[in-house]
Amino acid sequence: MDKILIQGNSVLNGIIPISGAKNATLPLMIASLLTHESLILENIPRLADVFVLQSILSNHGVDYHVMDNQTDGSNLTGRRVKFCAAKIVNTIAPYELVRKMRASFWVIGPLLARMGVATVSLPGGCAIGTRPIDLFVESLNALGAKIDIDSGYIVAKAPKGLQGSYYCFPKVSVGATHVMMMAASLANGETIIENAAREPEISDLAECLNKMGAKITGIGTSKLIIKGVSSLHGTTHTVLPDRIETGTFAACVAMTGGDIFLKNARSSLLKQVLDVLATSGTCIQEDSDGLRISRTDSIIQPILVKTGPFPGFPTDLQAQFMALATRADGVSHIKETIFENRFMHVQELTRLGANISVNGQTARVIGVNNLSGAPVMATDLRASMSLVIAGLGASGETEVHRVYHLDRGFELLEEKLSAIGANIRRVRTST
Ligand code: UD1
Repeated sequence: MDKILIQGNSVLNGIIPISGAKNATLPLMIASLLTHESLILENIPRLADVFVLQSILSNHGVDYHVMDNQTDGSNLTGRRVKFCAAKIVNTIAPYELVRKMRASFWVIGPLLARMGVATVSLPGGCAIGTRPIDLFVESLNALGAKIDIDSGYIVAKAPKGLQGSYYCFPKVSVGATHVMMMAASLANGETIIENAAREPEISDLAECLNKMGAKITGIGTSKLIIKGVSSLHGTTHTVLPDRIETGTFAACVAMTGGDIFLKNARSSLLKQVLDVLATSGTCIQEDSDGLRISRTDSIIQPILVKTGPFPGFPTDLQAQFMALATRADGVSHIKETIFENRFMHVQELTRLGANISVNGQTARVIGVNNLSGAPVMATDLRASMSLVIAGLGASGETEVHRVYHLDRGFELLEEKLSAIGANIRRVRTST
C-alpha cells in the first residue's frame, strides 16, 4: 500500500487551484440516471470516489465519456465528462460496488423515480459512526414508495410512480435531502421538504436539476418546493469549488505560516471556517477569483470549533482544524455534533506529540511547542488530512500509511502541496 512521507516545518507560499467539490460531483453524476439524455459535467475532480461511482453507474447502463481533461499546463484542473443513461439496464446496485462508497446508495432515488423499482445494497463508507438510513426510508415512503429490507438490500417499489408529498426531516441529512430532491423531481405533483440540508452541494444539485427541466424553488433554504415533471432532459453544468479542500489548504498554511492563493475558492461557501481561521491569527483576503490565506505571526492562537449542518462549521473540516489546534498557544475546544465517532484521528495525532483529551463529543486540545514526526495510520478520508497537516507542522519525518483514504477525496494532493513548497512525496508499493 502507498504511503506519504512529509518533512515538516517548510513555510508554504504559492498558488493552489481548488478542484471541483467531491460532495457535489457524486450526486450530480447520480442525477444522470434521471434522464435518457446526456448530462455533461465540467470541473470533475480525479478522485477514487469518482472512479468508483463511474463503475457503479456503468452497472446501471450509464455510458460515460471523458471529453477533455481541461488541463491548464499544470495538469491541476478538472475533467469534463459526458454521462448518458439512454437506457437503464439494471436496477440493482450490488453490495460489492455499494460497500466501497456510502454515497453510491443514493442511486436509489433516481432509479426508483425513473424505473419504479430499485434494489440497493445497504451502504458502507467511512467508519465515522453508525450512519443509519432511516431518513432515506421515511422520506421515500412519504413519496409513496413501498420499502422492504431483504438480505442486506433495500427493495424500493413505486410501480405507479412516486407521489408528491410533504415531509419534514427530523434531522438534517445531506444524503437523504439529495435523494428526496432527485426522486421528487419526477414525482406526480408537488413535494415540500422541510428541514432540508442547506449545504452548497445541495444547491448545486438543485440548480443542475432545474437546468434539466426540474422545478425546484427555495434553493439554499431549509424549505424546498419541488413541482414534479414527467421527464428531465440533458444539460451542461460546472461543479462548484470544493469548500472542504479550500478549508484544508487554508489550515495547512495556518499551521506552517506563509502566504498562499486558493484559486477559485469562494468565501461564501465556508464563512464559519474562515471566522475560526481568523481567530487563529491567520489573514484572509477575498479576491474576484479566489482567497488569499497568510500567516506571518509566529503564534497560532487557540480556536473554538463546533461542527453543525451548513452554514455551521463542517464536520469534514473538524479533524484538520484539530491538527492546527495541536500547535496553538493555549487550549482549544472542538465539539463534534454530526457524527458520534469522529475522533479517531486523536490517537494518531497523539503519536506525533499532540496533547488531546476527549470527553464525549468534545476534544480539549492543549497546544504544544513542538510535534515530532512519526509513522501514523490514516483512519478515514478527512482524518487522513489532519495527519498530513500535523506532519507539515512537525519536526522530522512523518509517514502516513493507508493513504487510499486520501485518494478518495483530495485531488493531486502531493502535487498541489509540493507546488507551494511542502516537502511531501508518495512512496508507491505494489502490495
Ligand atoms: C454527507 C457528506 C459527508 C459529510 C456529511 C455531513 C457526501 C458524499 N458526504 O454525508 O462528507 O460528512 O454529509 O455533512 O456528501 N443520519 C441518520 N439517518 C439517515 C441518514 C443520516 O440518522 O438516514 C444521520 C447520520 O448518522 C449523521 C447525520 O444524520 O449523524 C448527518 O448525516 P448525513 O448528512 O446524511 O451525511 P451523509 O449524507 O452521509
